[in-house]
Amino acid sequence: MNAPGSDVDLTVALGPLRLRNPIVTASGCFASGKEMARFFDLSSLGAVVTKSVTLEPRAGLPPPRMAETASGMLNAIGLQNPGVDVWVERDLPWLVGRDVPVIASIAGRTTDEYALLAKRLRDVPGIAALEVNISCPNVEDRGIVFACRTGATSEVITAVTSIVDVPVFAKLTPDVTDITSIAAAAVDAGATGISLINTLLGMAIDIEARRPALAAGTGGLSGPAIKPVAVRAVHQVHRALGDTPIIGVGGARTAEDVVEFIMAGASAVAIGTATFADPCAVPRAVDGLADWLERHGERSLAGLRGAVTAGSSGTASQRGRT
Ligand SMILES: Cc1cc2nc3c(=O)[nH]c(=O)nc-3n(C[C@H](O)[C@H](O)[C@H](O)COP(=O)(O)O)c2cc1C
Repeated sequence: MNAPGSDVDLTVALGPLRLRNPIVTASGCFASGKEMARFFDLSSLGAVVTKSVTLEPRAGLPPPRMAETASGMLNAIGLQNPGVDVWVERDLPWLVGRDVPVIASIAGRTTDEYALLAKRLRDVPGIAALEVNISCPNVEDRGIVFACRTGATSEVITAVTSIVDVPVFAKLTPDVTDITSIAAAAVDAGATGISLINTLLGMAIDIEARRPALAAGTGGLSGPAIKPVAVRAVHQVHRALGDTPIIGVGGARTAEDVVEFIMAGASAVAIGTATFADPCAVPRAVDGLADWLERHGERSLAGLRGAVTAGSSGTASQRGRT
C-alpha cells in the first residue's frame, strides 16, 4: 500500500505479519491507545504494541516513578496494569475495532505465568502478534531478568510459541554482555522476531535530599539518550541473525531516526518516550518517512534494511569499546 498522496510503498513484512508501514508504538507508552485516538487516527500506524499485561492486576511501584535525565527519562512504573482478564474484556475490544494490527505485550514472573498468559490470549480475536517482555525478574532464579540468560529466554519463548499460532517477538534487555546469543536463543525457541531494546537500568540522585530520584531507587532509562545503544543492538543482532525480523526500539522520534534503525537492520521501529512530549510523534514520523524516501529517490523500504556499510561484524560485543 502506498502512503496517502505519494508513490512510496511503506509496507513491511515481519515474517507472516504485514504492516502498512514500519512505525509502531512502544509498549507502555501508549496504554491501549484510547487516549491517543483523540490526537490522530490509529489506523495511520503500522501497529499498536500494548502495555505489558500480567496474569494478575498490578498496582505498580510507589511514586515518584518518573524522573527526567539528560536527553532521557527514568521510569519505575512497575508494570502497572489491570491484569489479563480485565484487559481482554475492557481494553482490547475497543482497540480491535480501530483497523490497526494489535501486538499484545505480556510479562510474567515465572515461565508458567507466561504460559498461562499465552493460553488466555490464544483464542482472543484481534491479536495479530505477541510481544513477550522478558526483561522482567525471574522469581524462580533469584530475580535475575529472564533475558539475561539464554536458558531462561529459551524456556519462556518455547512455552509461549508452543501455545499460540500468532507470530511471537521476544523483547530483550540491553543490560547483557552479548545480546546476539540471547536473540539466537529466542529464535531457536521459535520466536518470529526480536524487539530491541527495553530500557537500560539506571539511577538518578536528588543530591539535596540525598535520596534516589525514584522511590524504587533504580529505574529504566529511555529516550534519545539510549538510541545509540538500541541502534548498536539492532545492528549486532541483524548481522548475527540475518533475515530475522527486528523491531527497533529506543529513543526514536523522527523519520530520520526510523531510517537509521532500518539501516541498522530493523524491519519496524517503535516509538515510545517521544510520545510523552509530542502525542503525534508517531503519525508525524510516518508522514516524514514517506517524504524522506521520496526525497532520496526510494520507492520502498526494501533497499534500506541493513544498508549501513562497513561497521563491526556484530559478533564481538565489545568491539570499539575503549
Ligand atoms: C513509562 C514507560 C513504561 C514502559 N512500559 C513497558 C512495558 O510495559 N513493557 C515493555 O516491554 N516495555 C515497556 N517500556 C519500554 C518501552 O517499550 C521501550 O522499550 C523503551 O522505553 C525504549 O524506547 P523509547 O526510548 O522510545 O521510549 C516502557 C517505557 C516507558 C518509558
